[in-house]
Amino acid sequence: MIWADTSYGDRILILPSLLAADFGRLADGAKAAEAAGADALHIDIMDGHFVPNLSLGPDVVRMARRTVRIPLSIHLMMTNPGAYLERFIEAGADIVLIHIEVDGDIAGMLRRIRELGARPGITLNPATAAERVFDCLPLVDEVLCMTVNPGYGGQAFMAEVLPKIALLRAQMLARGLTAAISVDGGIDLTTAPRAVAAGANALIVGTALYRLADMTAGVMALRRTAQAAFPRRPA
Ligand code: DX5
Ligand code: ZN
Repeated sequence: MIWADTSYGDRILILPSLLAADFGRLADGAKAAEAAGADALHIDIMDGHFVPNLSLGPDVVRMARRTVRIPLSIHLMMTNPGAYLERFIEAGADIVLIHIEVDGDIAGMLRRIRELGARPGITLNPATAAERVFDCLPLVDEVLCMTVNPGYGGQAFMAEVLPKIALLRAQMLARGLTAAISVDGGIDLTTAPRAVAAGANALIVGTALYRLADMTAGVMALRRTAQAAFPRRPA
């Protein structure tokens, strides 16, 4: 059994994903997340190259920054994220997540995110091995393990990612690293505790929260269920 040592203690972070909000009322979607007690708002940026879909851009990040006070977690599903870091951070990104699968100087991009005043995170697609990110673990505040193939909301959770989460948490513990491990895709009341038991401590949740009439109750239920599954350090 592993236990998790995170910079957030044993608090489970809940991040609603704006991709699942009504695109005709995105400001209301951002406000709903904040009012529901979310720790941050997750915004998906898709470029039509790294993933087949197109989604949102810096103007929506700027709108969210004007609309809510909670941190903004910006997930760059882009082939060339390095060219856009300034634009997203200037627009109000607090956390910037890039993918390990892209070409280019990943460590340089992560350092640049921090120099620009935001918190860097590295993201792995479901098929990407944990070892690919070992070198950049000391540079990041968050490791995002995709639990679906990125590009679309509403997909089914891929349980085969769970051992990778456990491997990453064990690797971080062994090296004294306390970054958050987040999961994104198909997270709900059933899958969240499984991800947390494996070592995740941040849940990015689209459909399962935005489909609810009462998001506050949804956030509370997720937090409670996930918290109960959190692996504690042996006494
Ligand atoms: C998928 C996005 C996710 C998406 C998750 O590529 O990165 O953030 O919004 O949506 P659900 O929770 O519906 O799977
Ligand atoms: Zn995302």
